[in-house]
Amino acid sequence: MIKTKMNELLGIKYPIIQAGMGPFSNNKLCIAAANAGALGLMSTSGICSGTRDYQKEIYQHWAKTGNADPNAAMEDILRQALDQACEGTKASGGVFGLNVMVSGPMIEDATKLINTAIAYREEHPEVKDRFKVIFTSAGDPLPWGDKIKGAGFKWLHVIPSVKGALRCQRAGVDMIVASGHEGGFHTSWEPVHSMVLLPAVVDALAGSGILVAGAGGFCDGKSLAAALTLGAVGIQMGTRFLATQESDFAPLWKEGVVAAGDRGTLVARGFVGPARWIKTETSKVHQKNTLELTPELYLDSPGPVTEGALKLMDYERAAINAVYAGDKEKAMYAGGECAQRVNDMPKVKDMLETIMQEAVNTIKNLPSVLS
Ligand SMILES: Cc1cc2nc3c(=O)[nH]c(=O)nc-3n(C[C@H](O)[C@H](O)[C@H](O)COP(=O)(O)O)c2cc1C
Repeated sequence: MIKTKMNELLGIKYPIIQAGMGPFSNNKLCIAAANAGALGLMSTSGICSGTRDYQKEIYQHWAKTGNADPNAAMEDILRQALDQACEGTKASGGVFGLNVMVSGPMIEDATKLINTAIAYREEHPEVKDRFKVIFTSAGDPLPWGDKIKGAGFKWLHVIPSVKGALRCQRAGVDMIVASGHEGGFHTSWEPVHSMVLLPAVVDALAGSGILVAGAGGFCDGKSLAAALTLGAVGIQMGTRFLATQESDFAPLWKEGVVAAGDRGTLVARGFVGPARWIKTETSKVHQKNTLELTPELYLDSPGPVTEGALKLMDYERAAINAVYAGDKEKAMYAGGECAQRVNDMPKVKDMLETIMQEAVNTIKNLPSVLS
């Protein structure tokens, strides 16, 4: 058995978070992860106005997998998906939460989503031990503490730097996820990978009482053991959870992750900045276009939203629609560097049990290197 302060804080069996992977649906995956003993996260950006207006396939798929009426208001869609998650975790007592993006343009929707989550939990006191977490991302944590913690949620926030971690400390976050540049889809403008970022964040927060988990590149027991060795209390996994039986992602996407090989990803424009994609003919063209139209992306700078950037976003939108349409030739799908180490599509429960057993074995073998 491995137990860390993360198990205690969240009341979960394994020190593992199933990453929010918006704007795509994680509705069923969240239930499976929570039932199997990890923290499950539903992503919510798929029902925000930007997705509803411009990425209809993603929006429709989110509503469908959330057992929600796509014509309802955003808050009601969230309530319906929460009903499903509460019902789905009732027997196991699995713990879950919401991933809410709080970047500038999304603040209005983020506020509505968080208010809805707070109201839902108040109206359903019987789910308080299961619906426990708000996980904010992609924005400033400072404005959110009173609201989220005041309502009794555990509050997690993801950051790509020590600077971001110190801001989380000021904000009063319960637990930080330090997300290295290996990670799938949204990556930071200034790349630092997990091997450097995670111990740097752990050291910067030493003595603060704030827990730190690693994200980006973690996909098995060996990498979980490595995260614990670097001072983390656990890990968050996106790409590994994406390629599971219960994952809501399209079959083409899941198969694309499993098929990725050595040096199987690249970074190119995504709608919220740099994004890591599985290497395909379509994503290679996208990378070339990114270099031509928004070279500042490779110079660690957001730069202005130019016509070139808008063209890239159109290309991306069409390529993601092709995934939903099952058009392999035109499809483009996101995934992390660890896709090259993800070679199967197991059930979530089996995957977690295998990871935990491998982590225990790895840790047990470590003393053998001491002379
Ligand atoms: C398809 C996809 C979509 C993602 N969308 C989000 C998101 O909406 N919000 C977020 O905080 N992180 C997002 N991420 C990052 C994950 O939450 C997680 O930190 C990352 O996948 C960890 O790295 P890994 O892919 O190596 O496991 C996304 C990742 C993937 C693969």
